[in-house]
Amino acid sequence: MTIRTVETKPFEGQKPGTSGLRKKVVVFQQPNYLENFVQSIFESLEGFRGQTLVLGGDGRFYNRHAVQVILRMAAANGFGRVLVGRGGILSTPAASCVIRKYGAFGGIVLSASHNPGGPQEDFGIKYNIGNGGPAPEKVTEAIHARSRAIEFYTTLEADDVDLDRQGTVQVGDMTVEVIDPVADYAELMETLFDFDAIAEMFATGEFRMCYDAMHAVTGPYAVEILERRLGAPGGTVINGVPLEDFGGHHPDPNLAHAKKLVEIVNAADGPDFGAASDGDGDRNMIIGHRFYVTPSDSLAVIAANAALAPGYKDGLAGIARSMPTSQAADRVARDLGIPCFETPTGWKFFGTLLDAGKATVCGEESFGTGSDHVREKDGLWAVLMWLNIIARRRDSVAEIVRAHWRRYGRNIYSRHDYEGLETDAAEGLMDHLRKATGSLPGQRFGYYEVEKSDDFSYTDPVDGSTSSGQGVRVLFNHGSRIVYRLSGTGTEGATLRVYIERFEPDETRHDMDPQQALADLIDIARELAEIGPRTGRDAPTVIT
Ligand code: G1P
Ligand code: ZN
Repeated sequence: MTIRTVETKPFEGQKPGTSGLRKKVVVFQQPNYLENFVQSIFESLEGFRGQTLVLGGDGRFYNRHAVQVILRMAAANGFGRVLVGRGGILSTPAASCVIRKYGAFGGIVLSASHNPGGPQEDFGIKYNIGNGGPAPEKVTEAIHARSRAIEFYTTLEADDVDLDRQGTVQVGDMTVEVIDPVADYAELMETLFDFDAIAEMFATGEFRMCYDAMHAVTGPYAVEILERRLGAPGGTVINGVPLEDFGGHHPDPNLAHAKKLVEIVNAADGPDFGAASDGDGDRNMIIGHRFYVTPSDSLAVIAANAALAPGYKDGLAGIARSMPTSQAADRVARDLGIPCFETPTGWKFFGTLLDAGKATVCGEESFGTGSDHVREKDGLWAVLMWLNIIARRRDSVAEIVRAHWRRYGRNIYSRHDYEGLETDAAEGLMDHLRKATGSLPGQRFGYYEVEKSDDFSYTDPVDGSTSSGQGVRVLFNHGSRIVYRLSGTGTEGATLRVYIERFEPDETRHDMDPQQALADLIDIARELAEIGPRTGRDAPTVIT
């Protein structure tokens, strides 16, 4: 087969964001756009000749086409073998699992996560390194730099691979193995959790759950694990067939986008436990009957109870959370006598801590939880961890969380998103806040006094790398906080995220609605950032 070198010109803006390169499908469909980025990835790597690459995605529109393009380019660029999920499918955590299990050089995951899919919607591509985790910034920066200078890419003249047939084929000198996308991942889950205890709980018929796969990648994983291996009744998994456009929905597991699930679980005779995952399977939402668990609380509860799961029976080395995630996990860490690391937003910052054995579980307020079993956040992992905890504690979700608050106090928390802002207005607002940080300490706002304010900067305790400009923090007395940052994953305009938190030790106030409990801080947050005058918005678009 002939290797072809194709002349090309750089595209503007091939800069990976919080999690890979995400653009509208039509942007990816421009001639050479995908090829340029893939070539830039390969040219930023060293020593992959003859090595293994893992490849798969969340099944959204353009996934299959991209897989074929990448297979030909990987062969032309000298990879020895590619492991690709059947149908071009691999959830993000499963890709991480496969990279690690087979000692691959790295992996390419095709996904725009929770963003909608379809011809008019989003597509994305991210590179993961040999530890199974997202490429660190020095790699993503190198990819961006390459993409700005690219002149050629190389590909092979070869036919498409039949992605639906498991087995091994050759593409030029490279071997392509089409693998079962679920098996390795399901096997790993069995080593971590008490499948017998969970299966027994389902077998009684008294415990019922509903899992919403949102027509995204986790459908086949959830059916295999929950219904086949754990014996949950058929129909426990809803929206279980992955669709290229996710059925026209937004595959984001939160109260706004998983409405149907919330309705089912909150019905008078609704199930005890509800859960959902996003487009590529790395996010999770956990709800009990008429009880919503915030992701920050979920992380803290998981950390406090992890030892109930066989894979974590010896305890945790440490906990890591992204900076805007609530400080509930810090209280658990203090109680367990283990460190709690505070990293910038994005899973990639957990990689070094997990590799060095400094942290065992990690989480983000954005519906992301996971552990050192892979190097990505993992939606189904969180669901299984909750099932394991419920099976062992024999308590409802609500009671488990309330008991947690009674013991540790409650970090009342909410995130307000202002989406689709004009980029200039959003950047102006952040500039204004950054300038204000110097004069804020000591200022009083009613009950709250500013103790410290800065633009968060992080130095990785393992590799010493520094990441600055990671969000403006306003830290008040009594552990209250407001954090502001701009999203790094959006594909339209700018999104301002405002994170609001207050600590409530008083048990009699634990059942308060967060929007009410945080009302005065929410006002302060709007006022400090001049949100109304600068953006013209009098309310957030999404509240989680
Ligand atoms: C968002 C979340 C962040 C998460 C990322 C990828 O990024 O806030 O925690 O890691 O998606 O799922 P953002 O859009 O805020 O940059
Ligand atoms: Zn995702």
